[in-house]
Amino acid sequence: MTKADVLLGLQWGDEGKGKVVDVKASKYQLVARFQGGPNAGHTISFEGKKFVLHTVPSGIFTEGCLNIVGNGVVLDPIGFMKELAGLRAAGFSPEKQLVISRRAHLILPTHRLLDAASEQAKGKEKIGSTLRGIGPAYMDRTGRNGLRMGDLLTADFDQRYGKLKAKHQRLLAAMDWGNPEEIPDEQAFLEAVEKLRQLKTDNTEYLIQEALNQGQNVLAEGAQGTLLDLEFGSYPFVTSSNTLASGACSGLGLAPSQLGNITGIFKAYCTRVGSGPFPTELFDAAGDFIREKGHEFGSTTGRPRRCGWLDLTALQYAVMINGVTELAMMKADVLCGMKEVKLCRAYRVDGKESRQMPFDLSTATPIYETMEGWDFDPSELLQGDLANPGKTEMPKGLQKYIERIEQCCGVPVRLVSIGPGRTETLMR
Ligand code: GDP
Ligand code: IMO
Ligand code: MG
Repeated sequence: MTKADVLLGLQWGDEGKGKVVDVKASKYQLVARFQGGPNAGHTISFEGKKFVLHTVPSGIFTEGCLNIVGNGVVLDPIGFMKELAGLRAAGFSPEKQLVISRRAHLILPTHRLLDAASEQAKGKEKIGSTLRGIGPAYMDRTGRNGLRMGDLLTADFDQRYGKLKAKHQRLLAAMDWGNPEEIPDEQAFLEAVEKLRQLKTDNTEYLIQEALNQGQNVLAEGAQGTLLDLEFGSYPFVTSSNTLASGACSGLGLAPSQLGNITGIFKAYCTRVGSGPFPTELFDAAGDFIREKGHEFGSTTGRPRRCGWLDLTALQYAVMINGVTELAMMKADVLCGMKEVKLCRAYRVDGKESRQMPFDLSTATPIYETMEGWDFDPSELLQGDLANPGKTEMPKGLQKYIERIEQCCGVPVRLVSIGPGRTETLMR
């Protein structure tokens, strides 16, 4: 029996999870998303093409790889059918290698309205949600009111949908939200639901267990990132799901003892979209440089991402809380040309130096150390790697930076990404 590997983000999302799952997918017979929903935007680039996936797992471009949307995911029928249509238009047949858990919850059009109403009510304290209905859908799940994929196939689905919709409309009215009788996307929702019924659903926990029993390789794909986790992220500025390695257990039906390698992904710097504390955020030319060079604009909402230096204190916390066994560092190319780079080695909290994640991250100010920067030509570096795979000599500054991270986190950096493309990847 094999174990399931997990791949997840260690920062505030958008670390490059889509790219790394795609790079690794050829080694896996099964890739499964375990939480989140269309708030995610996972970008994959190969052969001059670029795709942004929201709910479909990132193993979908790999032949022979079965893709599972797990029970921990919240699925928006409208968005999901659009996503599949986009893939079909590009010449793929996603439904052939896709199975959706019957236990996955549905996002209704009224969940999206509730998301917007909740943000409006919060005013200046808004979370900066992607407005995809994620929070309200997970609230119905924990409140035991939600509708699940499996419910689509029951005779009384329409009544149950009507009942939940009516409840949402009462909530919207209490929140003074426009005209709650008007649900802009309802027709599209009902049409999408009809199409969704044709797709393959199953009790996917059995499919995953069978794959492991047969000795197949299984990869659990995370969405968002550790610092957006509901329990251990910068609450309340988080998402509504468990983004951690433990989320792969509850979100797929894996036992904790069935987890294998846990790959943690981080960028060579930090970004964040939406509100909430970000100790190493840059408001100067260095921040603008990173945003422009790294194209740091959201894949789902197009919003500019906030940019800052790498936060080693937060990274170490993320490694600890996930039990990360290996690291992947993304976007090393973006910092090329900087003379010096900074790392946050500790926080100052209440006047004292600390290497712990405080209860309230907004009370932390960063204490930096400065390191020599680096520069390289990605194509030259990749050519060197072809001649000598896994042994490429990194520029000195980059090499020292990686070693500092490994020393701090106690885990090796096995993958260094130097461009968005599938092949722009170095293994160590
Ligand atoms: P995800 O949500 O974790 O899958 O990440 P996103 O797709 O939202 O954001 C990562 C962005 O960085 C995408 O536009 C990727 O194409 C791009 N990207 C990934 N790795 C690299 C890299 O090493 N260098 C550069 N320059 N871009 C990268
Ligand atoms: P991927 O998988 C970056 C952020 C939002 C907001 C907060 C809550 O692409 O890394 P939500 O819509 O979940 O209620 O928003 O979380 N957020 C993300 N930021 N990448 C993501 O996903 C995100 N998903 C949610 O910006 O601050
Ligand atoms: Mg993303």
